[in-house]
Amino acid sequence: MNRHRACGLSRRSLMAGGSAAAALAFMPDAGFAQDDLPLKARAARKGLVFGAAVQKGQLSKNRRFADAVLRECAILTPEWEMKWGAIERDRGTRDYAGADFIVDYALRHGLHARGHTAVWANNLPAWAQDALKDADAQQILDAHTVTVIDHFRGRVAQWDVVNEAVEPKEGRMDGLRNSILMRQLGRDFIAHAFHLAKETDPAAVRYYNDTGFWADTAEDELRRRAVLRLLEQLKRDGAPVQGLGMQAHLEADEVPFDQKTFRRFLADVASLGLEIMVTELDVNDRYVSGAEPLEVRDGKVADMTRRYLDALLDEPAVAGVVTWGLSDRYTWLNGDNRWARKDRRRNRCLPLDDAFRRKPMWYAMAAAFDGARDRQG
Ligand code: XIL
Repeated sequence: MNRHRACGLSRRSLMAGGSAAAALAFMPDAGFAQDDLPLKARAARKGLVFGAAVQKGQLSKNRRFADAVLRECAILTPEWEMKWGAIERDRGTRDYAGADFIVDYALRHGLHARGHTAVWANNLPAWAQDALKDADAQQILDAHTVTVIDHFRGRVAQWDVVNEAVEPKEGRMDGLRNSILMRQLGRDFIAHAFHLAKETDPAAVRYYNDTGFWADTAEDELRRRAVLRLLEQLKRDGAPVQGLGMQAHLEADEVPFDQKTFRRFLADVASLGLEIMVTELDVNDRYVSGAEPLEVRDGKVADMTRRYLDALLDEPAVAGVVTWGLSDRYTWLNGDNRWARKDRRRNRCLPLDDAFRRKPMWYAMAAAFDGARDRQG
């Protein structure tokens, strides 16, 4: 199987980003120090794609950030602008301005775009939370799915068609999340969404996206089993799912990680004939004491990144890595949410610091890409 075509991206485009510098750096005597090579170029050398989630305001208001994004990334995900709650706050009025801005920005500069996300029980508009309780829930969801995928047809290389349908903690036998979608539509809404996505934009590679398969904990083991069961069943039923998107919101401390367990899971996913993308990587440092010097926090973040990526990138089915944000300045983990640091210090969970300088996490990623197995053969 040609990996590059399978993940929706041509080999040439993996290192694009409109940057002549990136391309030049591959030529002998180009005069670039190896250290300067951006992440997208290091990934592309191995047939991988690297990118990040961004928001419109970050790109349009901060030139230095936009430059950093273009330097490092070959693919962009809208961090929230493409979610149902962002597009259709008022029923029947769809506003694509934010998502269009990011997708067009990516394409104009020679980058790719990811669609995130068509079907998700979270970030729904308030009206949909009510409307989905009605008898025509399936029609309402279908209309949204088709309309949003159609709007970006031909511009989005990969879609997270369904997000976060697994939650073993909720006690269902099949480990699926007892969401409003599940309660109203039954588990078939997942397979159905993949069929609709294929009919609407056959060229965009279709991912099932979910969180929490990385930790060596009983909870994540249940999640791994549940998602494998779901993917097996989707394949058996002929649902056109093509890949697993793994969010990868990692923890720098406290939560155990075992490369062997993780590798086995990746191999199990690959054995189903699926691509794997890391879609939302960040490394939360909330469990590292604020009394520690920054070097210690950054070191733990980098170490976790490296151990995770080393295991990940050994798996041939892996097509690329997207971080959830690129700079600590804009991470969602500094927001008012339960994943933020309790001491209110700023999280240092991403490859660039607040001033867009490369951090130890960046160097860990660079080294992991440099050491990754080559998918070009
Ligand atoms: C988050 C964004 O980062 C926030 O800005 C937004 O308000 C809520 O969603 N899993 C996902 C992402 O799939 O869409 C979430 O993004 C983070 C967790």
